[in-house]
Amino acid sequence: MGIKWNSDELRLGVEEIDAQHEEVYARVSEILGGLRVGRHNEFLELLSCLERYFVRHFATEERLMAESAYPGMGSHMALHRGLLRTCRRHAEVFWEQGGATSALIGKVADWLTTWLGEHLRGADRDLATFLQSSTCQRAGTAPGKWSQPKRSEARP
Ligand SMILES: [Fe+2]
Ligand SMILES: [Fe+2]
Repeated sequence: MGIKWNSDELRLGVEEIDAQHEEVYARVSEILGGLRVGRHNEFLELLSCLERYFVRHFATEERLMAESAYPGMGSHMALHRGLLRTCRRHAEVFWEQGGATSALIGKVADWLTTWLGEHLRGADRDLATFLQSSTCQRAGTAPGKWSQPKRSEARP
């Protein structure tokens, strides 16, 4: 199991979000790496670090949604709340089982990897596209706030 940030594939062109996504990937990679080498006793601590980081990241995205009157804000926020609920559920399972079993670790690894990939390529990309287009419409009001996507990332 493993997860790796790929800027070419995952960068969305909104600097603040991209920087946090890269950091999220680094944290998740650290968690999965730690679990792989048997630091099971750190499972809960790492899960709670991750949850705190997600709370901060989601607050950033939700502030950008509110500032830009993003029409998909409700459904996007529901996805964020779902991830935090699942994070807490995994911590509960840890206590119920009396530790991090290899089945639980595998489940958390699969869940995080899948959730992040799908969320970045779906809901977050939609948000970034909206933010970039609304920035273009307000050209001159927020110079340099958001970076342009690379030519290779342009959508057809
Ligand atoms: Fe995100
Ligand atoms: Fe998001």
